[in-house]
Amino acid sequence: MRRIALAAVAVLAIILTPLRPAAAAPSWSWPDQPKNLKVLGPDVKGEKLADVMRGFTRALGVRCLHCHVGAEGKPFSSWDFAADDNPNKDRAREMLRMLADIQAHLQKIEPSGPTRVEVGCATCHRGRPRPTTLAEELRAAYATGGVDALRDAYGKLHDAYFGKGTLDFGPAGLDEVGRGLLDAGDLTGAVAVFRLNSDEHPDSGRAWHALAAAYERAGQRELASIYYRKALEVDPDDDEALAKLRALDAGALSPP
Ligand code: HEC
Ligand code: HEC
Repeated sequence: MRRIALAAVAVLAIILTPLRPAAAAPSWSWPDQPKNLKVLGPDVKGEKLADVMRGFTRALGVRCLHCHVGAEGKPFSSWDFAADDNPNKDRAREMLRMLADIQAHLQKIEPSGPTRVEVGCATCHRGRPRPTTLAEELRAAYATGGVDALRDAYGKLHDAYFGKGTLDFGPAGLDEVGRGLLDAGDLTGAVAVFRLNSDEHPDSGRAWHALAAAYERAGQRELASIYYRKALEVDPDDDEALAKLRALDAGALSPP
């Protein structure tokens, strides 16, 4: 009888084990008395602190570890949230101060609409820790690894952020990068970037036009006229492309 009872207890224990909290970690809750708040007011504690911190993670698209010290996957009770060892924590504090300055300054400006536009971390960050533009990211990639690195960066950013309102993947971003390269006299780079843009946005007359103009500047008249034609096909109102095409065709007939 006793043995059966023990066996039953053992079975019960096996059933219950997975239901118990992982390794009986000391429980953790949002502190009612935070130890090290330097910017947030004294009323920011418990659930209110939770709202602020969750807001940070959403606005920046990061996890707690981005600003705190601890081990991902380990219970929060083993983390030290009051510690200032992670430099991003002080960066976030400066951001809070900057935001307060911005909000105070805005009070001096008459709202342009019926309500004041809310400004928060997400206004700039939009789900990324470093709120760069697409053009900025692509210029940096190009500077380190040329066209291949730029294409690679574009693909990765597209996979990660397309449709999330974080980065603008419309034709303007690549166009801006291509124009910068043109201005710097890097025709090969500009052609590659405009080509990527027209691959990505075959419905954009502006993208084909820019590709044509870059080829024209590079002295590749045949390719220039092919792409001015393409620009016109997509956007029949592109009078400039039509004029360029006529000039190029006329030039092609006359001896060099
Ligand atoms: C963008 C950076 C950032 C992220 C992400 C972030 N925090 Fe914080 N956290 C801070 C800053 C900054 C403070 C201190 C604010 C101050 O000094 O007023 C803080 C303070 C805290 C405190 C108070 C600690 C104390 O006792 O002083 C806790 C608890 C906390 N964070 C938990 C979290 C948790 C949990 C997450 C993830 C859900 C998280 N934080 C995500 C920046 C961040
Ligand atoms: C006016 C725009 C703006 C607002 C608003 C803003 N940030 Fe930032 N934030 C930036 C810029 C720009 C950088 C990059 C600074 C640099 O060049 O390193 C940055 C960087 C950071 C970083 C460093 C991230 C990293 O991985 O390098 C943290 C953390 C951060 N911001 C947190 C916040 C938090 C939290 C808020 C809201 C309280 C906020 N920011 C509001 C513009 C802003």
